[in-house]
Amino acid sequence: MTSISELTFFGTPVVHLKEINSTNEYLKNVTNHTPMLVIADYQTKGRGQYGKVWESVTKQNLTFSFQWYPCSLKVEEGYKIAQLVSLVILETINHFIDPNRASIKWPNDIIIMNKKVCGLLIEPSIQNNLIQKVVVGIGLNVHQTKFPENMPNASSLSSLFPNRTWAINVILEKMITFFEMQLPILQNINTRLFFNSNLYKINEVITIKKENEILPCINLGVDEEGFWVLKNLSNNDILTIASSQGIEYVY
Ligand code: BTN
Repeated sequence: MTSISELTFFGTPVVHLKEINSTNEYLKNVTNHTPMLVIADYQTKGRGQYGKVWESVTKQNLTFSFQWYPCSLKVEEGYKIAQLVSLVILETINHFIDPNRASIKWPNDIIIMNKKVCGLLIEPSIQNNLIQKVVVGIGLNVHQTKFPENMPNASSLSSLFPNRTWAINVILEKMITFFEMQLPILQNINTRLFFNSNLYKINEVITIKKENEILPCINLGVDEEGFWVLKNLSNNDILTIASSQGIEYVY
């Protein structure tokens, strides 16, 4: 079994820190132009999407980030990063459990048995309408059993699959293997088909809360521009959603 400190990411040794404010923050201040991955046992200021806090008990979960320099990826194609990264996480989880149990809740949460086990924080740096560098932060809950009250939907791999052995270094090693295969071909693959076929509740009736309005909709999946398309069942309008900010699933 390879320990975390023996792992590499595209040939660069993985940086393993005991404690840091946030692994995303760490990499945003790194200026070397190479792929790099940093993992922390504990983050004192772990960040979630839209300024939320991401809390994770020491050594219980995978909390890491990597930096990637995509080649000529336009800002409007940035959604491909979220799609590919979610698919790699799904592929990794599927390596350890029966496939088809995990799915992606748009834009990039990983859901198993209606519970969120993983979230992503993707922070691109843009120059001349191109994504010059992207920092991808991944929080995958592995062993944690208790979650804050404001996260009633959170769970972890070992809570959902208690009969399996889950090891953080083994999961990370597998995920790195998949990233090393997929990231270099990001521009050449059409992630949309795979993404939609793994989308949580695709073609099903779901209820979302949008700007305090409760909307029963059919989830039609993502379009060619990465937008989420829904059919509003109260008036049959097609909704095209660009950002998940202000959108909530009503379970
Ligand atoms: C979310 O679902 O809100 C995104 C959560 C992302 C959490 C990860 S943990 C590693 C990396 N460092 C951070 O501060 N956040 C991301």
